[in-house]
Amino acid sequence: MDRMVDLSQLAGFDHVFTGRDCAKSLPDWILSLADRPTVTLVTGAQTIERSEMAQDLICRLALVAKLIHLRVGGEPSDEWVDAARKEVRAMGDTTCVVSIGGGSALDAGKALAALLCEKAPSIEYLEGVGFRNPSGKMLPWFALPTTAGTGSEASTNAVLSRPGSTGFKRSLRHPAYRPSGVWLDPNLTATCTPAVIASCGMDAFTQLFEAWSSTQVPADLAEVLEDALVAVYRHLPSLVEGTATDPTHAREALLIAAFLSGLGLTRAGLGTAHGLAGPIGAVVPIAHGLVCARLAGPCLRETVEWLRANPQGRHATKALGKMTRLRERLAPYSPGSTDAFADIQGWADRWELPRLGEVGLHPAHHPGVLRLASDRNSPAQLGPTVWKAILAEQKPFPGGLK
Ligand SMILES: [Fe+2]
Repeated sequence: MDRMVDLSQLAGFDHVFTGRDCAKSLPDWILSLADRPTVTLVTGAQTIERSEMAQDLICRLALVAKLIHLRVGGEPSDEWVDAARKEVRAMGDTTCVVSIGGGSALDAGKALAALLCEKAPSIEYLEGVGFRNPSGKMLPWFALPTTAGTGSEASTNAVLSRPGSTGFKRSLRHPAYRPSGVWLDPNLTATCTPAVIASCGMDAFTQLFEAWSSTQVPADLAEVLEDALVAVYRHLPSLVEGTATDPTHAREALLIAAFLSGLGLTRAGLGTAHGLAGPIGAVVPIAHGLVCARLAGPCLRETVEWLRANPQGRHATKALGKMTRLRERLAPYSPGSTDAFADIQGWADRWELPRLGEVGLHPAHHPGVLRLASDRNSPAQLGPTVWKAILAEQKPFPGGLK
């Protein structure tokens, strides 16, 4: 980041900690809640196996609290939350919920902390699916991301999905759904594979870009988001390709950028890539990060082309000016490339991320996706013809997966 940002103040959260080993203070914070706390711990299916620091942290937590440990494999569903709620209630009261993991564990923990305060089935509180308004009550929820991607620790919604022909991917949302503590510890992301760093980092980049270029973004937030876009462009390629001179610093920069992307999507909304990613996630269970990584390049290209072709559009002049400035700011960090935007469009291929057609999105799914797609708050109104062309680019590579 070019300028120091007070993340707690910017987000309006009580506690946001950054820096190497900051997560070690988690047990003390839990102890400050109660003498003999019960902690509902939500992790990803592989979080503990993959991260020594997460293992160590959970052992320390077990010394000070009774733990109810729940795992979530893949993106959480309302059914997962209902089953978790039943299990936690059967064990008695819980003092708080702690999420240690990627976006799925964070969303699952956030939803559980909120829905433990509600009585009806979880599905009834989901936007566009149920008809109940959540009360906004929430148990204390602590978030420790082990990937730098969704920024769920900074957003006020939790995404729950049931992929399938009659499926959905929808949000549980309330402005009061805020974490009681966030730890952005670069040691927690140290064991991510290059593919995970790439897809999560591109999700964060897409969220930042879409919030920054949104027609609804406040000017002061846009400045911070633009700095974060520069930070991702500076650090993501070297981290994915193993050439970072200071990997810890690069991982921390990406964690902060991902946090800001969550704040951005909450306050400014998103654009076309997420307007397609939501409906895709409703029909096929492909990891959200990969969906965004594959849609980021085509959506960036089409957005810029649409703005150039429609300069009379209501938001076009301002948006084109912003794009030009961003390109200029990225240029010093694109050695060997004359065009930073073209460079970004090549990331997914360069890092050999599979096309969506190779991991389950078939042409038969396209009509259903297109029916629910939108450009959301993008300054470019691409519409169904362009969306269709973007989906068509997801056909498998000749010869299939490498
Ligand atoms: Fe996203």
